[in-house]
Amino acid sequence: MTNWHERWMSQQTGWHRAVYNDLLLKHWPSIHAPPSSHVLVPLCGKTLDMEWLAQQGHEVTGLELVRRPVEAFFEQRGLMPEKDDLGDVVRYSASPFVLVQGDMFKVQPEHVQADAWYDRAAMVALPPSMRPAYVRHLQLLTKSGAVGLLISFSYPENELQGPPYSLSDDEVETLFSHHFELECLERINLEDERDRGLSSSHSSVYKITRR
Ligand SMILES: C[S@@+](CC[C@H](N)C(=O)[O-])C[C@H]1O[C@@H](n2cnc3c(N)ncnc32)[C@H](O)[C@@H]1O
Repeated sequence: MTNWHERWMSQQTGWHRAVYNDLLLKHWPSIHAPPSSHVLVPLCGKTLDMEWLAQQGHEVTGLELVRRPVEAFFEQRGLMPEKDDLGDVVRYSASPFVLVQGDMFKVQPEHVQADAWYDRAAMVALPPSMRPAYVRHLQLLTKSGAVGLLISFSYPENELQGPPYSLSDDEVETLFSHHFELECLERINLEDERDRGLSSSHSSVYKITRR
């Protein structure tokens, strides 16, 4: 059992929000994801943001390691998903949602080819050592020209033991610049994070385009 399983079992899921993410609502229109296109949500938990993306007309594929939030997402919407065993992962489908349960690094490109993606609390949930593989896998699971919205979270690394792990603007640039184009849409200083002992922190919102 991983630390993520333990967190879901003991309901230590402080990242989960009961409202749609305001930065998603503000910036999604400016990345110009094609209408009715297929949006990937890596490390999705049971975020309500998938529901908002579906309301915009998108098909949504979430990738989530732990079975509990996957099943809860469908149950909470009164949906009865079809289940397919894909070997290393299990696919739950009830239109317009597909949630693939298992390690996202085991999800094969023949099962997911997205036109767009949304990353909130995904890349920052992974330690820096796993992020190059995350970016490579994102590349595998998206089409050329796909657009993404990334919300980062950056703080002095010695001030908090992640997750969330600090993701600096420099690291975003280094990891994506070879195969993607980056545009920073907004940078926000997070004053309220002082409550958890961070002397300074900010989020950057990026539009990322896969070449
Ligand atoms: C911090 S939570 C964020 C969830 C969601 N993005 C949100 O905003 O509510 C990170 C999620 O990623 C999942 N996760 C961690 N490692 C994973 C992996 N290798 N593959 C798929 N999901 C993973 C965890 O179980 C957890 O639900």
